[in-house]
Amino acid sequence: AETRDDQAENMVASAKKVYASKTLSKDDWYMILVNEDNPIPEGFEVKLHKLSTGQKVDERIVAPLDEMFQAMRAEGLQPMVCSGYRTIEKQHNLFEDDIMQQVRKGATYDQAFYKAKEYTAMPGASEHHTGLAVDIVGKGYQQLNAAQAKTKEALWLAEHSAEYGFILRYPADKTDVTGIAYESWHFRYVGKEAAKYITDNQLALEEFIDMLN
Ligand code: DAL
Ligand code: ZN
Repeated sequence: AETRDDQAENMVASAKKVYASKTLSKDDWYMILVNEDNPIPEGFEVKLHKLSTGQKVDERIVAPLDEMFQAMRAEGLQPMVCSGYRTIEKQHNLFEDDIMQQVRKGATYDQAFYKAKEYTAMPGASEHHTGLAVDIVGKGYQQLNAAQAKTKEALWLAEHSAEYGFILRYPADKTDVTGIAYESWHFRYVGKEAAKYITDNQLALEEFIDMLN
């Protein structure tokens, strides 16, 4: 009988056939894949724009991000970017902080390392190095934990972000593909066409990029 894994595999295979002829390419700037297997290329450069919160993002995503936030504000929501571009050094510090927090709770260093890795990419392996990833929270609740998913801002984003070119990068049912736990706050700019396809077909970015030429 067909297992759920088989079904998922078939779905990806048929989606691949459908998508292979389309216009996007792996080389498009907004299609860059950064994860543990694909660290940020050495010497990667990005032109950054500083947002009002002090966070920085790739200047090319300022307009779509702005458009999305304006739509949210028009509905009474209060989104804010709590994290954007990060240097490798910054990611290193975040990762170390996460490990230490686990160690203080009683974990061994090994346990702490793997626990930290669930939510925080290792230095060099974070999409935040691209300037194309943003952590978005509601001003009324700024914690990055499970409850964030229930905020009005997170609910709106889950439904509408793709219309503005942003995908929920780490869905709950794709942790085996992304290597990262569900993060209701982490959005990644991929452009409107890819965002719609990825969201409609419930793919991880890894699976979509596999379909591109
Ligand atoms: N929280 C995401 C996975 C990062 O650290 O890049
Ligand atoms: Zn993030």
